[in-house]
Amino acid sequence: MKRVASNSDLRKIARRRVPKMFFDYVDGGAWTEATYRANADDLARIRLKQRVAVDVSRRSAKSTILGQNVSLPIGMSPTGLTGMVWPNGEIEVLKACEGAGIPYCLSTVSIASVEDVANAASAPFWFQVYMVRDRDFIEKLIRRVEAAGVNTLVLTLDLQMSGQRNKDIHNGLSSPPKPTLRNIANLATKPAWCLNMLRYRKMEFGNLYGHVSQVSSPKSLSKWTDEQFDPTLNWDDVKRLRERWKGKLVLKGILSPEDTGMAMDVGPDAIVVSNHGGRQLDGAPSTIEVLPNIVSTVAGRCEILIDGGFTSGQDVFKGLALGADGVMMGRALLYGLGAGGRKGVAKALAMIRHELETTMGLCGINSTAEIGPENLFHKA
Ligand code: GLV
Repeated sequence: MKRVASNSDLRKIARRRVPKMFFDYVDGGAWTEATYRANADDLARIRLKQRVAVDVSRRSAKSTILGQNVSLPIGMSPTGLTGMVWPNGEIEVLKACEGAGIPYCLSTVSIASVEDVANAASAPFWFQVYMVRDRDFIEKLIRRVEAAGVNTLVLTLDLQMSGQRNKDIHNGLSSPPKPTLRNIANLATKPAWCLNMLRYRKMEFGNLYGHVSQVSSPKSLSKWTDEQFDPTLNWDDVKRLRERWKGKLVLKGILSPEDTGMAMDVGPDAIVVSNHGGRQLDGAPSTIEVLPNIVSTVAGRCEILIDGGFTSGQDVFKGLALGADGVMMGRALLYGLGAGGRKGVAKALAMIRHELETTMGLCGINSTAEIGPENLFHKA
């Protein structure tokens, strides 16, 4: 990976290596993808304030997230189907995150189960849940998560129904891929992926398969998953979870001041300002646009994380400058995974670190705690 210089280089390699339906699942957004694009476009528009003749020889990207020392102010977002991007993908990303000293968050809809990941983990990791209709399943899942030594639970609030992702419809997304002519033709162009996958054979949702009553086949599991979005979810459910879960609780999917206020009543340890990477409500604003308002509404009552379109160390700098305590990244690390497994994720993280430290230096900053709005140029 000597000639790889940026995250978009990793994306290009991943696109060549990963079957189209799984690459597009990672890469795409909802409907017209306007919100997906706004996330990155709004970050790109922010201008940094260059400072000179400041001694920046002691630069360090170290920080803390939820009381944990981190070597970079970022964490891995929960991402579905990661084990289809690369065999054992969840564990490959976990190991790269552990190597880089940042938190890893496993998704409910992962291929590796929470037990698989716990066996591979050398430190506590985070786990993401959706509130699904089958509350018995959630209780059982939380017990498994506790037994796995997870210290932080991330509740995703913006998935009471699935945002329509047109690319997934066009591709007939399913795991494992259905043996249609189109899929076979595409898989034939990804021989390395096919060979690797044949060795692992895991293509089911590990946290669900074998754990949901009345589900005995991949087909009935996919029906169960479709039926489990819960439109009745409300703040009382969230409060009950706060009482039930003794570890750190993070509420993900906050985008408005109103919901920030409701979230504060629950007393989370952190919120994630998130539009689900532009995968849910197309037409919602970018996360970086709403961040300053949310920061003033929270007024220090909990930590603030943000995700959505962050792919570089410069993006991370901008998120911190506008008041986030940390940035969650999904796609940026999955491009690395698709390009080269654990090594690819490590490469993505190394580039983000280099970009952040260089940006800090050119802005006259030595520590992440110093990064603030004064490092940006504001429009008059
Ligand atoms: C799941 O949360 C997804 O965005 O696909």
